[in-house]
Amino acid sequence: MARYLVQNAQLLDGDVVDIEIEDSDVASLNPAGSSDPESYSSDNQYDAEERLVTPSLTEPHLHLDATQTAGGPRWNRSGTLTEGIEIWGERKQSITKQDVKDRALKTIKWLVSHGTTRIRTHADTTEETLTGVEALCELREEVADLVDLQVVAFPQDGILTDESHEDLLRDAIDVGVDLIGGIPHRELTPEDGAASVKIAADLAERHELPVDLHIDETDDPNSRFTEVLASEALKRDIGDRVTASHATAMHSYSNAHAQKVISMLSESGVSVITNPLANIVLQGRYDDYPRRRGHTRVDELRAAGVTIGIGHDSVLDPFYHYGTGDQLDAAFMLIHYLHMNGYQDVADVWEMLTTENATVFSDDDYGLEPGSDGSLVVYDAMSPFDALRTRAPRTLVLRSGHEVARTEPQQTTVRHAGDSERIRYRR
Ligand code: FE2
Repeated sequence: MARYLVQNAQLLDGDVVDIEIEDSDVASLNPAGSSDPESYSSDNQYDAEERLVTPSLTEPHLHLDATQTAGGPRWNRSGTLTEGIEIWGERKQSITKQDVKDRALKTIKWLVSHGTTRIRTHADTTEETLTGVEALCELREEVADLVDLQVVAFPQDGILTDESHEDLLRDAIDVGVDLIGGIPHRELTPEDGAASVKIAADLAERHELPVDLHIDETDDPNSRFTEVLASEALKRDIGDRVTASHATAMHSYSNAHAQKVISMLSESGVSVITNPLANIVLQGRYDDYPRRRGHTRVDELRAAGVTIGIGHDSVLDPFYHYGTGDQLDAAFMLIHYLHMNGYQDVADVWEMLTTENATVFSDDDYGLEPGSDGSLVVYDAMSPFDALRTRAPRTLVLRSGHEVARTEPQQTTVRHAGDSERIRYRR
């Protein structure tokens, strides 16, 4: 079992400690400098030199079946969700299991390099051979040394839009997915949208699986499925196993209606995931000026006590061409477009990135307390603020006490006034 010592680790609360990992779990937090490095091999210790250390990150919303396909078979020229769905519809006709696995593994390695060791991915179930679902369920076992992978059965084109889609969703459950997905705003009528939420909740209850729906990912204030999901969660008492992803229409609801939905989410215990990178480019596309930003109401949801995580969503696919798989990029975008740039917001952003994302993932062993899973990340930053400001390189990533990634920060030589100075990358 893994054993590791991280010395001089600055925690999010500012304390500097030595972290000892035994049997893959955090064994103890000791005063900085009080641990005995002699009892660890050189490969099993790291001096953080008072840099920031957090539990490793959790990515609650990815699409690993589509990742790394940007430009194939063609680029999304309009940049809209509609064209993205069209292009993915063409691309998924030619996917193979190996193709999906190779692309997904490439993106998973990017995420691990950025300190992420838990990933929830959606997998399209409206591709009739279920190639992506099967590939990602197999990959889940093949990458078990790197990450915990959750696969959501995601009917990208709707459940009731074609008579085969509900059967395909059931078949995906037989393949071995971890969660039930849905996309009610893509169904053809409001009635079908509400019915699709109930189908997903029925399947979840019958198979004892959690639910994570793409829901109200539109600027249409009349898209009203988040309240249907919260209502079903309340009636069935399953809110702690339900996630509402995106919920961007809430941005455009009247304040009166938004408060009703937010209080239902709060009462039901349903979590919300916001995806800043994708939604800042996909929302507001039908607006003239002024253009809405179109994100969900993160501040009001948090004030109401709703758990809200930050997802990256797409990485290099037809829906979002950009992306590096770095969750700090998503947080950086959120800081800007949600006006979370006050200094007091730094702690809130870190809470979303760490404990809130882990809660969405239902990770009970998360944290840096004795007994927590020994998964952590060291940032090349001397404070939580600077880690966000610079999206600092992650110099060490441990998963359950095993080293899974190391990064050497870049240095740049700047020549000025006849002198030269080597400065650290982005610091
Ligand atoms: Fe998504």
